[in-house]
Amino acid sequence: ASWEKQVRHSSTPRRPNGFSVLVTGAAGFIGSHCSLALKKRGDGVLGLDNFNDYYDPSLKRARQNLLSKHQIFIVDGDLNDAALLTKLFDVVPFTHILHLAAQAGVRYAMQNPQSYVRSNIAGFVNLLEVAKAANPQPAIVWASSSSVYGLNTENSFSERDRTDQPASLYAATKKAGEEIAHTYNHIYGLSLTGLRFFTVYGPWGRPDMAYFFFTKDILQGKPIDIYKTQDQKEVARDFTYIDDVVKGCLGALDTAEKSTGSGGKKKSPAQLRVYNLGNTSPVPVGRLVSILEGLLGTKAKKHVITMPRNGDVPFTHANVTLAYKDFGYKPTTDLASGLRKFVKWYVNYFGMEPSKGTQRAGETS
Ligand code: NAD
Ligand code: UGA
Repeated sequence: ASWEKQVRHSSTPRRPNGFSVLVTGAAGFIGSHCSLALKKRGDGVLGLDNFNDYYDPSLKRARQNLLSKHQIFIVDGDLNDAALLTKLFDVVPFTHILHLAAQAGVRYAMQNPQSYVRSNIAGFVNLLEVAKAANPQPAIVWASSSSVYGLNTENSFSERDRTDQPASLYAATKKAGEEIAHTYNHIYGLSLTGLRFFTVYGPWGRPDMAYFFFTKDILQGKPIDIYKTQDQKEVARDFTYIDDVVKGCLGALDTAEKSTGSGGKKKSPAQLRVYNLGNTSPVPVGRLVSILEGLLGTKAKKHVITMPRNGDVPFTHANVTLAYKDFGYKPTTDLASGLRKFVKWYVNYFGMEPSKGTQRAGETS
């Protein structure tokens, strides 16, 4: 009963016509930031997360502690647990799902391919099955990825560009998610909005991402690998600051139409939308490293190598015209200012001493 009380309390909105949002992956990087932003403006938020050890779960627990100070409860559970999800929808008539839980990271797919299939495909379908059967049906906003553009090297990627050349299994499962969303929209009238995030960074970020472990390794005096493309060009990313992404997620939730089905039956067409959420200015990885060197006051031991065939793509660059038109999405944080905020958080969280608790999966030392 106290579990039910917590679930109800956490998901009850405090503002008139506020949302009740189920945030999956709420103990994750983007999920924790979005949960706080929703709660702060008066929406009800219930988190779901399985606290897996892809990266140090103590960081996920620390985010959970932060959220609990803001009266946000995270249910410890898996996307594939249909009975649990059904129970949550029995207790709370969620108006929205912000679905961010996934197996992220492109390179780890070579070590553990099944975890991508399990969370990003089977888990997503399980969530959609429960959402389709719910009454009312929630509108769903979910995380896709810039990786769906694969080896595209156009000046900037627009939503209509081809996405049939995934370079990693991660990208393939994210692309599969977009196809799966289409069928649930078509058959059951679920309102679905996919967000293609572009290399998101910031405070409370992911230890498996380059900006994060570069910071750790530079402080530890360890060498870092900087990838170059096969033809010796610089690799670049459209690094996007977390606060910009949070605004985009809220904008997508605010403009999502209601689902049109109920109890698994569709009534009339509902929305299916896909948007890029990037920063619109790609930065070479070498430049990322020099900004970090400046902020940390230490030179990196740089080891420049040709990009291994590990699922990485050489270049990303978002065109965000569509997200701007539909919900005013406008990134405002450049890489240097965003990294300054990240480093400030990092030093405060771990101290200048290199942290022991940020091992990535598969890392031995
Ligand atoms: P994250 O790993 O920090 O967060 C994901 C959370 O989901 C984790 O806390 C994890 O424990 C949880 N989770 C994973 N599988 C689960 C399952 N089966 N059941 C329940 N919980 C599960 O990653 P993030 O950076 O916050 O990414 C959020 C979403 O955005 C993911 O879908 C990711 O693929 C996508 N994305 C992220 C980026 C980025 O640069 N951070 C870029 C593009 C897309
Ligand atoms: C990131 C996230 O990790 C994915 O989950 C997400 O889906 C993806 O963004 C996205 O935009 O969709 P990625 O851009 O590969 O993936 O982020 P990092 O792993 O942090 O790599 C950033 C850059 O550093 C890449 O260009 C990569 O090639 C480079 N890199 C990485 C190095 O030069 N050296 C390394 O040791 C690792």
